[in-house]
Amino acid sequence: MLTIRHLQFGYGLVLAPMAGFTDLPVRLLAKKLGADLVCSEMVSSHGLVQGAHRTLDMLHSDQAEWPLSVQIFGSIPQVMAQAAEIAGNMGAAIIDINMGCPVKKILRSGSGAALLADQNKIALLLAEVRKATDRPLTVKIRSGIDAAHLNFLDVGKIAEDAGVDALTLHPRHVRQGFGGLADWSLIKALKQAVSIPVIGNGDIISAETAMRMVAETGCDGVMIGRAALGNPWLFRNIKEVFAGRPITSPDMSDIKDVMLAHLNWAEQAWGPKTAGLKMRSFLCNYVRGIPGSSGFRKTIQKTETPAAARDIIQKYFDQVSDNGGGGNPHQNVIDT
Ligand SMILES: Cc1cc2nc3c(=O)[nH]c(=O)nc-3n(C[C@H](O)[C@H](O)[C@H](O)COP(=O)(O)O)c2cc1C
Repeated sequence: MLTIRHLQFGYGLVLAPMAGFTDLPVRLLAKKLGADLVCSEMVSSHGLVQGAHRTLDMLHSDQAEWPLSVQIFGSIPQVMAQAAEIAGNMGAAIIDINMGCPVKKILRSGSGAALLADQNKIALLLAEVRKATDRPLTVKIRSGIDAAHLNFLDVGKIAEDAGVDALTLHPRHVRQGFGGLADWSLIKALKQAVSIPVIGNGDIISAETAMRMVAETGCDGVMIGRAALGNPWLFRNIKEVFAGRPITSPDMSDIKDVMLAHLNWAEQAWGPKTAGLKMRSFLCNYVRGIPGSSGFRKTIQKTETPAAARDIIQKYFDQVSDNGGGGNPHQNVIDT
């Protein structure tokens, strides 16, 4: 059971914030299929404070995904504090601070994981944000800037002292990017060092790996990113395994229904033009491993509208069923 202050999140299955991916339709699907908590993409604190339309649009939410965690990034304590207040007033149930993003542009601005290099600034920034909002406050960190500066334990303690309510650790340092393996032993070390909840993140690809992370680290919740893209059933499967029930894998009609539901939500959220373009890559993720998926990918990349995409999805699944099904594309992911 993951509890962040007064909010309870069942098994603590969290959809990771992913810029360009975890928009409202993706979050709604994850929630519908078993995620206990979903997070927005990272949102610029400057954009929020300046009232930039594109930034404010990113906070567009729906009751069905509540309680939503909104992640903000930035480097100026007062701006971050104001942004946290704005996000809270706009309905965020949790404010999450990004201290893990390793993208060069973000690092150059002193935001994201660059903050890990300045512990005094972390203390100041968290104190300002804590004063500005009464919402539960969480921080997502990497293990440090590089192998010689793994300061996640110090940062975790600073956060706890500042009144942060929970921490998420992606145990790779900044220089690692996404290379190598996430070092789960660091999640265990953080869990032992602080008394606030710790959410473990990194390389969960199946119900089995989620179970293993909890068993090996004692973390209070697990956050899943890349493996949930195109496989939102992963949340349901993890829940089934945690509850000691057999895994129910999606069949072809489940996959088709979710693709169509995703497309509908996208069209409602962004209108047909943007949805038509933006959904291309999302739809390709769902058919990974299904026979004929490369043909599907080629055709869908040329679609302009949701109506055309619906037609292609329908034809593709008709063809798959004419050819005798196609097995369960997510079985390998779930069982490895
Ligand atoms: C495309 C992409 C975008 C991401 N965007 C964010 C972000 O906005 N904020 C953040 O804290 N982490 C971001 N991350 C990192 C993920 O939240 C997560 O920590 C990382 O992917 C490791 O988890 P995984 O192995 O389950 O994918 C992003 C990762 C990816 C692949």
